[in-house]
Amino acid sequence: MEEIQGYLKEKAKSVESRLKEYMESPEGIPETLREAMTYSLLAGGKRLRPVLTLATAEALGGDEEKVLPFACAVEMIHTYSLIHDDLPAMDDDDFRRGNPTNHKIYGEAMAILAGDALLTQAFGVMAQGALDAQLPRETALTLIRECAVRAGAEGMVGGQVKDIQGEGREVSLEELQDIHRSKTGDLITWSVRIGAMVAGSGEDELQALTGYAERLGLAFQIQDDVLDVIGDRQRLGKPVGSDEVKNKSTYPSLLGLDSSRERIRSLVEEAKHLIMAQERIRPDRLLAIADYLTVRDK
Ligand code: IPE
Ligand code: IPE
Ligand code: MG
Ligand code: MG
Ligand code: MG
Repeated sequence: MEEIQGYLKEKAKSVESRLKEYMESPEGIPETLREAMTYSLLAGGKRLRPVLTLATAEALGGDEEKVLPFACAVEMIHTYSLIHDDLPAMDDDDFRRGNPTNHKIYGEAMAILAGDALLTQAFGVMAQGALDAQLPRETALTLIRECAVRAGAEGMVGGQVKDIQGEGREVSLEELQDIHRSKTGDLITWSVRIGAMVAGSGEDELQALTGYAERLGLAFQIQDDVLDVIGDRQRLGKPVGSDEVKNKSTYPSLLGLDSSRERIRSLVEEAKHLIMAQERIRPDRLLAIADYLTVRDK
């Protein structure tokens, strides 16, 4: 476990130094907007999604330099989703990544716009990354189109809508699984798939990795729900008990804590099996990341 934590830290650092460059370089960004974007983007966070992108590319022998812009793009989109998720009109939370939420510092209008700008910049970063890496046109456009689908109305944004519409009533387990898959699973799945596609993955490997990522994505959100009940606010860097206040159905509220944990373990085992069966994937890091998700406490 220590080894994988060291790996996560090391890769998070390379993502962060590139993110910093992306935030410093463009000219003509109003200073308050640049500050608000940087405040949330560089506040810390586990960087799980970009690290999954890098680890997947590595598992297929891909070139880290080529994949790094895409890893950064996914973190920008994820960060925008957190800024908006915390807004008073959504989860109304005041603590994120160990700091006051974006709107608490910069006000709601700036928080909304910082999120908008991060989302838009991610597409610019991806397009430039594809040009610099001289990715085949077909691969580049497929990746970017898939990002739009998974981050947008059919994916993460759609999932957030279903999440809000589920507040204040008990949703079925099936419905909850669908919410989790779209609000969280889609972006995690895309993180893995871009790593694979930029590394030039074959179709079989891509399918196995997609199955791995889908299970990880669901397991990740179930653990998020569990930590909202039993986690430590300081360690998580965000409030606990937020789901109960908003009267949201979660895995622990529907199944209880023990069965939720059991569900996480079985999803992670399934995920691991899918990639172990592939000869052309060097699975060690991806297996260790999957195991880490069952024990994470932040
Ligand atoms: C929190 O994501 C939001 C979810 C989709 C569950 P993370 O737990 O990855 O948050 P950071 O990036 O580490 O802050
Ligand atoms: C958020 O789910 C999913 C996103 C798309 C941001 P949550 O609302 O449970 O995430 P946290 O607990 O606030 O990080
Ligand atoms: Mg939410
Ligand atoms: Mg939230
Ligand atoms: Mg949560």
